[in-house]
Amino acid sequence: MKKLEQLYEGKAKKVFATDDPAVVIVSYKDDATAFNGEKRGTILGKGAINNRMTNHLMRKLEAAGIPTHLVEQLSDRETAVKKVSIVPLEVIVRNISAGSFAKRYGVKEGIVFDAPTIEFSYKNDELGDPLINSYQAVALKLATWDEIETIKKYAFAVNDFLKAELLACGITLVDFKLEFGKLPDGTIILADEISPDTCRFWDVETGEKLDKDRFRRDLGNVEGAYQEMARRLLGK
Ligand code: TMP
Repeated sequence: MKKLEQLYEGKAKKVFATDDPAVVIVSYKDDATAFNGEKRGTILGKGAINNRMTNHLMRKLEAAGIPTHLVEQLSDRETAVKKVSIVPLEVIVRNISAGSFAKRYGVKEGIVFDAPTIEFSYKNDELGDPLINSYQAVALKLATWDEIETIKKYAFAVNDFLKAELLACGITLVDFKLEFGKLPDGTIILADEISPDTCRFWDVETGEKLDKDRFRRDLGNVEGAYQEMARRLLGK
C-alpha cells in the first residue's frame, strides 16, 4: 500500500490517502490539546502508545463481533484503516461520575452508576462540541434513528468488553468517547481511537488517574501514566 497526500490534520492525528481508495492511513501525533484546543502541549511517546493500544483493543473488539475500521498496523505510529465518513457525534459512555458530567450536574467525581449512561456531543470545534440529544441529531440529519440505535448498541457492547478487559489489568474504566464511521454501503463501524486520550482510567487499588486528565489538570507524570497503561494492556 502506497502512502499518498495528506487529507486532513486533526489535533492528535493526521490522515493520508493511499493508492487504495477504500483505505486511508492514520498517523498518531504526540501533540496534546485540551479544552477545545485552548491548552496545548506534547506528550512524548503518546502517538505510538495510542496507536498500539487502539489497534490491540480494536482487534479484540472485532473478535467480539463489533466491526471496526482497523485494516493493519503499518508502524509504531501509523495504521491503515477503512475510509469512512465520520458520523459527527462524539459518543460518551460513563460508568462513574467524572469530568464534565460531575461539573454539569454539580456532583463529586467517583459516584458509581447502577447502569452506564450514554450521551452525544455534536462534533463541531467552532461550537465547542455542544451536547446534543438523539432527536436533535436526527433533526440536523447528523444520523438516522437506525444509525443511532446501532451506535448505542455498539457503544454499550464496547463498554462491557472494555470494562472487563481493563479490570483484568487492575484498571477501572470510568468513561470514554467513541466515534463511528459510515462505509460507502451505509454500514456503521467503530472508528477513531481508544486510548488514554479518549478514556478515563483509574487504578483499581489506588484510584490514581492513568489518562489524559493528568495533562488536562496539570497533575504531573503525564508520560508515566501513558507508559503504565501500555505496560498493563500491552505488556511493555
Ligand atoms: P468529559 O467528562 O470531559 O465530557 O469527557 C468524557 C470522556 O470523553 C473522557 O473519557 C474523555 C473523553 N473526551 C474525548 O475523548 N475528547 C474530548 O474532546 C472530550 C471533551 C472528552
